[in-house]
Amino acid sequence: MIRVTPLADLRAALAAQARPLGLVPTMGYLHEGHLSLLQRARAECASVCVSIFVNPTQFGPAEDLAAYPRDLDRDLRLLEQGGADLVWTPAAEELYPPGFQTWVSVESLSTPLEGARRPGHFRGVATIVAKLFNACEPQRAYFGQKDAQQAAVIRRLTTDLSYPIEIIVCPTVREPDGLAMSSRNAYLNPDERRAATVLYRALTAARTAFEGGQKEAEALRQTMRSVLESEPLARPDYVSAADPDSLEELHGPVERALLSMAVHIGKTALIDNVIVEESGGR
Ligand code: PAJ
Repeated sequence: MIRVTPLADLRAALAAQARPLGLVPTMGYLHEGHLSLLQRARAECASVCVSIFVNPTQFGPAEDLAAYPRDLDRDLRLLEQGGADLVWTPAAEELYPPGFQTWVSVESLSTPLEGARRPGHFRGVATIVAKLFNACEPQRAYFGQKDAQQAAVIRRLTTDLSYPIEIIVCPTVREPDGLAMSSRNAYLNPDERRAATVLYRALTAARTAFEGGQKEAEALRQTMRSVLESEPLARPDYVSAADPDSLEELHGPVERALLSMAVHIGKTALIDNVIVEESGGR
């Protein structure tokens, strides 16, 4: 496994990699969710590049950029074991040179849900992902369903900017009790960690209701809200039943929906989602 930082070194290292090349973008502090993307890329591609970069432009002024967990030595060990060929750990000064002012903005998809809660977040995500695509020129890029809106934004930008890249969205990896794996879970104290299972319990309750014949979007949102209300440590930011492609909020009976939520547990905001559809959920 080769590790590079300057863009010039990345380009030189990429020239020696076999194609198809798979790219797995991350912000590090890796867990089984990230490693599942690497495994999938490893299985489907001749070589795999993983990027580790805590992208400052996707953090809001009040967010946890400085406190974002980091453990590069551990990450590099896990990537080596996982079979990555190339690890790119870019320097912020090189990706965002002084005077930087060129942004990628995916308009409507960036506005609801996480976009409403985190203004500017998806502009930062779209910009860095476009820059990673430009630098690495992969044939395939791997993302997690855990961040459903991010995946939708990236699919859109790939089509709109004509990148010849196949976007592969991999299932959410969960702890045994259902909590979606996330680097931010490290912020939870033991009581909060127990309370955090409420997100998946709420999503599962709505999925069960849907499978039992409850197709009304508002009733599905209400099912999720009432499970969340049963957990005193949980403060919901939003609870949504939206169209999985447009992310527009649904009303009336639905055949297919992205059920998603952001919930504060103490100071930590957690997100999770499932897709329900008439032929059976994902
Ligand atoms: P990060 O949060 O490190 O996540 C990197 C990738 O891992 C994303 O595609 C995310 O959806 C996926 N992932 C995270 N938790 C997962 C889980 N439990 N199961 C499956 N996949 C999971 O997302 C980002 O970084 C950044 O926004 C990035 C795309 C790298 C741009 O900066």
